[in-house]
Amino acid sequence: MPSTTGAPGTRAPRVTTPRIKSPALLVAESGADREGHGLRRTMGLFQLICFGVGAIVGTGIFVGLSDSVAQAGPAVVVSFLLAALTCVLTAFAFAELGGAIPVAGSSYSFAYAGLGETTAFLVGWCLLLEYGVSVSAVAVGWSQYVNELLNSVLGIRLPAALSAGPGEGGLVNLPAVLVIALACVLLVRGVRESARATAAMAVLKLAVLVAFCAIGFTAFRDGNLSPFSPAGLGGIGAGTTAAFFSYIGFDAITTAGEEAKNPRRDIPVAILVCIGLVTLLYCAVALAALGAVGGDAVADRPAALSYVVNEVTGATIGGGIVAFGAVVAIASVVLAVMYGQTRILMSMSRDGLIPGVFEKVSPRTATPVAGTLIVGVVFAVPAAFAPLDAVVNLCTIGTLATMAAVNVAVLALRRREPGLARTFRVPLYPVTPLLGLGFCLYLMYETGAGTWIRFAVFLAAGLALYAGYGRRNSRLARLTASDAAEREPQAV
Ligand code: ALA
Repeated sequence: MPSTTGAPGTRAPRVTTPRIKSPALLVAESGADREGHGLRRTMGLFQLICFGVGAIVGTGIFVGLSDSVAQAGPAVVVSFLLAALTCVLTAFAFAELGGAIPVAGSSYSFAYAGLGETTAFLVGWCLLLEYGVSVSAVAVGWSQYVNELLNSVLGIRLPAALSAGPGEGGLVNLPAVLVIALACVLLVRGVRESARATAAMAVLKLAVLVAFCAIGFTAFRDGNLSPFSPAGLGGIGAGTTAAFFSYIGFDAITTAGEEAKNPRRDIPVAILVCIGLVTLLYCAVALAALGAVGGDAVADRPAALSYVVNEVTGATIGGGIVAFGAVVAIASVVLAVMYGQTRILMSMSRDGLIPGVFEKVSPRTATPVAGTLIVGVVFAVPAAFAPLDAVVNLCTIGTLATMAAVNVAVLALRRREPGLARTFRVPLYPVTPLLGLGFCLYLMYETGAGTWIRFAVFLAAGLALYAGYGRRNSRLARLTASDAAEREPQAV
C-alpha cells in the first residue's frame, strides 16, 4: 500500500513505498497465462531443453576446458562438480521463480518482485555482462574454431587481419561479426525458426561430445589422471571459477517464459534437466580427454578436444569433425544468448527503465525486430575488435552477481508472498538458497581484484543510468503515484 506525505488534498502525493512489483502484476502485464505482448507460445518441453543446452554448451567446454585443466589438473572434474553445485543450488531458485513468475525478464523480473526496482535495474545491467558481453566473447571463440575447421578440411586459414581484433594481431574479426549477423536474421524471422535451428544445433553438439567421449575412453589409462590435484585446493578453486563459464546460460530458459506453451510446468523441469545433463557431459568429456592424453597435454592447448581425437585416432579427420561440432555449438550459444538478451531488454523497456524501442514487437514476425538489431549491432563491435579473454571474467562475475540476487529474491518472496502459486519449491528451504548465495559469493571472490574493480566501475555506470533515466521514467512509479492520487482525499 503506497504511503504519502504532506497535507491531504493540498499537494500531489509523494510516494515513499519501495518500488517493488508484485508477482501478480508482473504476470498480468506479460500476459503469462495467454499470449504475451504479441509473442507466440510455440516452445514445448523438448524445445526448452534444447534451448537451454543451446545456451550453455559452447566456448566453455570446447575452448575453456584447457584453461580449467591448467589450473586444476585432472581435479578439474572436481572443479566441474563444484561449479555445477553452484549452478544446481541456484537452478532450484530459478526453477521456483521461473515457474511462479513466467515472464521474459528472468532474474531481472525476479529481482523486481523480490528486491525492488533499484536492485532489479542493477541485475538487468549485470545481465548485459552475462548475455550481451558473452555474445561478443563467444562469437570471438567461434571465429577461432572456424579457422580450425577451415584448416583441417581445406588446409587454409583466414588472414589474421580479418579474423582477429587489434589486441590479437589482426584488424577486425569478420567471422565473429558474421555469426552475430546470422543470429540476428534468425531471431528477427521468428522464434519458431530460431527454436528449430536451436534444437537441431543442440542435438548435433551433444552427439559430437558423446562421440568424443566414446573415442577418448577407448584410450583411457588410469595413470594419466595422476597426480590428480597438482595445484591442491587453490588450483581446484581457480579451476572452478574458470569452469563456471561453461555453465553460464542455463537461466536463459526462464527468458522464454512468454513463448513457452506451458511455462509453469515446463520451465522448472527444463532447467533441472539441462543442468543435470550438462554436468554429466562435462565430467565425461574431461575424464575422457584427461584419461586419454593426460593433464599436461590438455592444459592451455588451443582446440584441445580436436587434439585429443587426433592423438587417439592417429588421423586428422576426427579433429575436423570436433571442430565442426564446436562451430555449431558456439553458434547456437550466440543465438540462444542473443535471444535472452532481447527478451530481458524487452522487460526492462516495458517497465520504462530503458527506452521504449526495446519493447516493440513487429506484428508481421511477432519478434522484437528493432531491439534485436540494436543488440546485434552494439555487441558486434566488441566482437570485431576485442580479444576473447578480455571479457570472460567480467562476464563470470556479472553472472554470479545476478545468481546471488536470485537466491536472495527467493528468500524475500517466500516471506513477502507466502501464498504465491509455486509449481516448484526449492528443496531444503532456506538452506539451499543460502548455500547457493554462499557459493556465488565465493566464486565472485575468486575472480580476483582486477575483475572486482572493473565490475565496481560497471555497477557505478549502471547506477548513474538508473538515476538519470530509469528512476524518472519508471512505469511502476507512475502507476503507484496515480494509485496514491486516487486514494488521496480531494480538497473541497
Ligand atoms: N556457457 C557458455 C559457453 O560455454 C557461455 O559458451
